[in-house]
Amino acid sequence: MEITIIGTGNMGKAIGHNLEMGNDVTYVDSTHPATSFGNIVVLAVPYGALDSIVDQYGDQLVGKVVIDITNPLNFDTWDELQVPADSSAAAELQAKLPNSKVLKAFNTNFAGTLSSGKVGDTTTTVLIAGDDDAAKKSLATALEASPLQTMDAGSLKRAREMEAVGFLQMKLAASKQISWNGGFGINK
Ligand SMILES: NC(=O)c1ccc[n+]([C@@H]2O[C@H](COP(=O)([O-])OP(=O)(O)OC[C@H]3O[C@@H](n4cnc5c(N)ncnc54)[C@H](OP(=O)(O)O)[C@@H]3O)[C@@H](O)[C@H]2O)c1
Repeated sequence: MEITIIGTGNMGKAIGHNLEMGNDVTYVDSTHPATSFGNIVVLAVPYGALDSIVDQYGDQLVGKVVIDITNPLNFDTWDELQVPADSSAAAELQAKLPNSKVLKAFNTNFAGTLSSGKVGDTTTTVLIAGDDDAAKKSLATALEASPLQTMDAGSLKRAREMEAVGFLQMKLAASKQISWNGGFGINK
């Protein structure tokens, strides 16, 4: 599968490490703009960068599976998300990209757990939420050769719960009660 990752920071690298197993992955950063995109496009950028990416690449993302991985925290207060409680960054992104298939994924996984494939002794699970079943299946298939486990978290509405989990996990790590390489694991 051809996959493009926008953003080459902690998450872009950790997600790319897994997707490179069995797929053709290309990377885009602010100094190397994209000329074409794979069928799956991972937006490994801060929440605040999503609007500029929509402005810059919206037309080229038509028909693509677009992965939102953001945790839209208010980093001034660390006390709230920047999206309404009944919405999510992913739902906002889908509204701005109505002709793309937006998925929420990876936001509940710290980068270290994607690189190692483990949360403690448990296999790292990537939750995937979205309204298009084929799009969710394509991401799960793209990760099949990686050590990660995937799980269908339901419709894109579930992105708000995933963002709440991501927020809580960050609070636990910021207060040093868990490691930035730890967090929530899922056992079947
Ligand atoms: N780190 C984690 O463990 C973790 C876990 C779950 C979710 N997340 C989410 O993952 C996202 C990325 O986090 P991160 O830790 O990887 O951050 P990071 O290390 O700071 O990397 C962010 C990347 O985004 C790029 N970027 C920013 N604006 C851009 C634009 N307009 N066009 C292209 N690239 C742009 C930056 O490139 P330049 O430096 O060139 O601008 C940088 O490569 C965030 O939304 C975060 O909430 C992170």
